[in-house]
Amino acid sequence: MRLTVIGTGYLGAVHAACMADLGHEVLGVDIDAEKIAALGEGRVPFFEPGLQEVLGTAVASGRLRFTTAIDEAADFGDVHFVCVNTPQRRDSSAADLRAVDAVIDALVPRLRGRCLVVGKSTVPVGTTARLSARVAELAQEGADVEVAWNPEFLREGFAVQDTLRPERLVTGVQTPWADRTLREVYAPLLRTGVPYISTGPATAELVKVAANSFLATKISFINAMAEVCDATGADVTTLAEALGYDTRIGRRFLKAGLGFGGGCLPKDIRAFTARADELGVGSAVAFLHEVDAINTRQRRRTVDIARDMAGGGFEGRRIAVLGATFKPDSDDVRDSPALAVAAAIHGEGAAVRLHDPQGMDNARAVLPVLDYVPDVTKACEGADLVLHLTEWADYRRIDPAELAAVTPTRRILDARNALDAALWVSAGWTLRALGRPTPAPLPSQQTAAGHESAVRSAEPA
Ligand code: UDX
Repeated sequence: MRLTVIGTGYLGAVHAACMADLGHEVLGVDIDAEKIAALGEGRVPFFEPGLQEVLGTAVASGRLRFTTAIDEAADFGDVHFVCVNTPQRRDSSAADLRAVDAVIDALVPRLRGRCLVVGKSTVPVGTTARLSARVAELAQEGADVEVAWNPEFLREGFAVQDTLRPERLVTGVQTPWADRTLREVYAPLLRTGVPYISTGPATAELVKVAANSFLATKISFINAMAEVCDATGADVTTLAEALGYDTRIGRRFLKAGLGFGGGCLPKDIRAFTARADELGVGSAVAFLHEVDAINTRQRRRTVDIARDMAGGGFEGRRIAVLGATFKPDSDDVRDSPALAVAAAIHGEGAAVRLHDPQGMDNARAVLPVLDYVPDVTKACEGADLVLHLTEWADYRRIDPAELAAVTPTRRILDARNALDAALWVSAGWTLRALGRPTPAPLPSQQTAAGHESAVRSAEPA
């Protein structure tokens, strides 16, 4: 089939490459000429494990091309995927749909014959119905343009795997023809037994926001438990493990810590509450306000614990921050909890040296005032405190004994509950975490403890 993919960011670039991998002829379209030039040469302009290989192969095969010309897209095929971003509006918690609307306005008047416009972006429920009315106004005479919604569930870091081996496919269609067309697009996946749910547009649109709301709720639930653990001396990681054995609850998305961020979960739950208010059912999802509040509170709690560990204030303190991205295996810093904490402590006077394996360029672009250091040891040199804010595997491989040699105060806050606390403590570190008691220093660590009091007494009053 001949498909176009309009919008070639984290979602669209992956979708375009994977559709070509399935055997389709694909044209990727974006208004960003630089991005299109890179993709056209088979280069991924962001970090996504495994995408480079799939993209490179697809471009080399000739099945995948890129353009900035929407005319070309209209002529190219009959199925057009819309993958542009729908961020939070600046003036409210609703989704900003200007990019989706702009694609419809530019594409639809140029279409001829029978065409399917398939939205993949996350949108408020009712968007397909609204766009269908707009399409009816814009379409040329003789053109038969239909809108369907096919939400994307891919996770950054696993985007290729989630697209080529999805746990399910969901399509919201208005006619049997649209259903047949989408089944043909995904035929290679359906043959492998991927569950396929074909429903109406409203249900399909809702599946996506409901899924993200549930995941956000699960994370905030365990973070709320972490707060209770902190008040009682209980350990949230053991609690989560014990809960997780109950198959009705499950272990995944119960990692307590600094909370969720990124381009999806935070803005999706806010957009959902805004849409529910418009529909008069705001009270049905009012709990999502609390989910959001619990989540942002983890950032404040992290700053508070860090301040305490730094001796009561950040003024004049050297703080090493490990991690800038909203999660590991991504270079995305959108609504990153790690970067929010780094910005807050810098705002309170800390000298912040930040390291991230992939996210430093993006972080520097939004927060240029920090000192970006491409080496973990150098970032931690002479630090009064180390903050572990994104759980990259690289950081679990740090040898705490080696790092202790350059970080005389040996204090670390593991805000992701991902480090081996016993190992760090045995290397002389004071380790604190969210929702877990502080491990007592080993008896043999009198020197580390003595050093700490020396540092404390040297602190300004
Ligand atoms: C999410 C959804 O998972 C995906 O299905 C949807 O299509 C887009 O939004 P993504 O934003 O890539 O994907 O990240 P995800 O892996 O879901 O993690 C979201 C955030 O939650 C991250 O900041 C992560 O660190 C945090 N998280 C996740 C936790 O704090 N604890 C957990 O147990 C799991």
